[in-house]
This record gives sequence, C-alpha cells and structure tokens, in this order.
Amino acid sequence: MARILVTGGTGYIGSHTVVELMQHGHEVVIVDNLSNSNKEMLDGIAAVVGKRPDFEQVDCNDISAMCDVMNHYTDIEAVIHFAASKAVGESVEQPLMYYRNNLMSLVTLLEQMKAHNVHNIVFSSSCTVYGQPSSEHLPVDEKAPIQVALSPYGNTKQINEEIIRDEAYANAALHATILRYFNPIGAHPTAMIGELPNGVPNNLLPFVTQTAAGVRRQLKVYGDDYNTPDGSCIRDYIYVVDLAKAHVKAVERMLSGKTEEQVEVFNLGTGRGLSVLEILRTFIQVTGVDVPYEIVGRREGDIEQVWAKPDKANNVLGWKADTPIEDVLLSAWNWEKKLRGIE
Ligand code: NAD
Ligand code: WQD
Repeated sequence: MARILVTGGTGYIGSHTVVELMQHGHEVVIVDNLSNSNKEMLDGIAAVVGKRPDFEQVDCNDISAMCDVMNHYTDIEAVIHFAASKAVGESVEQPLMYYRNNLMSLVTLLEQMKAHNVHNIVFSSSCTVYGQPSSEHLPVDEKAPIQVALSPYGNTKQINEEIIRDEAYANAALHATILRYFNPIGAHPTAMIGELPNGVPNNLLPFVTQTAAGVRRQLKVYGDDYNTPDGSCIRDYIYVVDLAKAHVKAVERMLSGKTEEQVEVFNLGTGRGLSVLEILRTFIQVTGVDVPYEIVGRREGDIEQVWAKPDKANNVLGWKADTPIEDVLLSAWNWEKKLRGIE
C-alpha cells in the first residue's frame, strides 16, 4: 500500500486508474485543473470504490501550487502523470499551447519530485510515437523505431520521453516507466465513470456511441481503400479498465524495486488489430442498435494499420489485456446510455 499522486486523475484513463489503485489498497491524491474533466468524476469514483480520493484542483504547470501539494502530502511514493492536452487536430491549430501544457507540466513535476524526494514516475505515452511501422515491425514492439511525429501532440509525447530519459541519466535516483498506449476505449462496467468527449468526438468509439444514441446523424468511416483485408484502417483497441490495471502493475513493480532498467518502456495493447468496419459491425451485433454510416474519403494524417506486440508487458509486468471486445463495446454503450438517460 502506498500513496500515489495521479495527475489528470479526473480524466478518462486517470479516473479508471484511480479506481484500480484504490481497489488495490493504495491511497491516491489527484491533481487536475479540470480543463478537460469535471468534479463529478470524483462522485463516480467514490460510487465505484466506496471512498473518495483526495483531490487538489491545481495546474501541473503551477510551480508553487505543485510544491504545496508535495509539501502537504509528504507520503507520496510514486506519481502517475496523465495530465496533458490530447486532441491531435487542436494541437495542429495551437501548437504552442500543446508544447507549453504537455512539456512544462512534466518539467515542473520532475523538478518538484526531485525537490521532495519522490523517485518513481509512470508516464502516459502513446503508440503515436511509432507512426506507421513498416511491415517487418508489425505487430509493433518497444524496439521499433520512433518516427517523425505527425502532429505537435505526437511530438510532445516524443519530447516528454526524451525529457524523462535525460533527467534519469542526470538523476540516478529517478525511476520511470513509460507506457505507450494503443487505442483506449470503453467505460467501467458499473457505468459510474467513462469518457466525456468535448464537443464533436474525433475518436471512433465516442462517435459510434453518440450516433447509436441519436446525438449524431451518421458515422463517417474514413476510407475503405487501404491495404487491409476490408479496406478500413486497423488499430489495437484496448479496454480502459485493462489499461488502468497495467498502471497498478507498473507502480507496484517500481515500488518493489524489481525494475531492471532505470527507464522501462512497455507497449500496452491487446496484440490484436481490428478494422473500423469490424468495430462497427461488432458494436451493432452486441448492442442490437443500428449505427447509420457512410464511407467517405481518408482522414488526413491517418495511419493505415498499427497494433501492438504486448509480449514485454505480458511477461515482465505480468499483465494482459484480455477483456473480450464484445464486453468492451457494450461497456461503452452502457456509459453512453447513462449519459443520455436512455433506458
Ligand atoms: P483526458 O483529457 O480525459 O484526461 C487528462 C486530464 O488531465 C484531464 O482531466 C485534464 O483536465 C487534465 N489536465 C490537462 N492539463 C492539465 C494541467 N496542466 N494540469 C492539471 N491537469 C491537467 O485524457 P485521457 O484520454 O485520460 O488521457 C490521459 C493521458 O493519456 C494523456 O497524457 C494522453 O495524452 C495519454 N494518451 C491518451 C490516449 C487516448 O486515446 N485517450 C492514447 C494515448 C495516450
Ligand atoms: C481510429 C480509427 C479513423 C473517427 C488518435 C490519436 C492518437 C491516440 C489515439 C493519443 C481511424 C477511424 C475515426 C470517425 C472513423 N491518442 N475513424 N470515423 O486516429 O488511431 O488515434 O487517438 O495518444 O495519438 O491520433 O484514433 O479513434 O481517432 O481513429 O472512421 O469518426 O477510426 O480513421 O482509422 P487514432 P481514432
């Protein structure tokens, strides 16, 4: 049992991770500025766990407020850093906002961790660092080359990873676990917490569930002329609860001193690639709800196909994403129904 600081803990992946941490007996303090989440998520967490996590409404870029948090919670043993801006399109329009928020928050955090003798960090990275892997690198493992980022958002993840490596080189006490997520989807099985997309969703699953709920008229499938079996793009969709559990494993591995390298990297995916059309068909099949769609042209910047080789996480972390896709899609639908008050 340990005290964990979770930045971005009222967000989508953060809230699910807080639940898993608390259910494993850990004490949590969340730091979030609520720029992309709201305080009601704390009620959702409490409804699942039966206990409220500590919460500080603080911006991770605010040096003195972060120092105050660290001074107040003197028992923090590890940090999980989710807080970041994450919309790819927005990052193209407002690159400086993305560089400031995503880079300076990490720098501030690492400075404060060092000043307060906190030596373990888990960082949220992304499969976006691999770009489109060549065919010999599919499925993609952690040794696949990092490619030039396709967006300022993607670039912040690459630079964040470099910042962590540079600081670890200079500061022998620091231990870091970099988790590269593939495509997180779904919601908690209780439907007490889930994703709250802002405005029109860019990601596939929230668009599918909102179309099923009648909030959107029609899903656009971006391209059916890719070099894939059904012509639509392939991704590794990972259940957010499985993903959350990986964070518990990563933190506990660091706290038990079992890490083999100062900076460890893990791909977090299922190992199975699914196409857009497969997701759509399975969603319609398991929910019994129709999702009107049309095939349109390709979306600029889309990767054709990428899925993970999660063997390292399976073998070293002792973690596996094994929730059936049918259950995952149902959880996303149950959450959407709850948000919209649909019976
Ligand atoms: P999210 O937007 O739901 O959660 C991020 C949280 O961080 C929000 O609650 C937001 O209010 C908070 N936040 C942002 N900037 C902050 C700041 N400066 N100070 C304090 N709080 C701040 O996003 P998510 O989907 O839960 O993503 C969590 C992390 O995982 C992010 O780092 C994201 O880049 C990364 N990631 C997400 C995906 C995905 O598809 N969702 C994939 C790969 C990696
Ligand atoms: C998945 C597939 C679309 C919407 C993005 C970021 C990435 C990562 C996760 C954080 C693609 C297709 C989508 C729609 C569609 N985030 N699609 N119609 O593009 O894999 O990754 O989110 O690190 O950095 O780039 O996820 O959910 O947007 O798309 O046909 O309305 O669904 O073309 O093939 P993506 P996504």
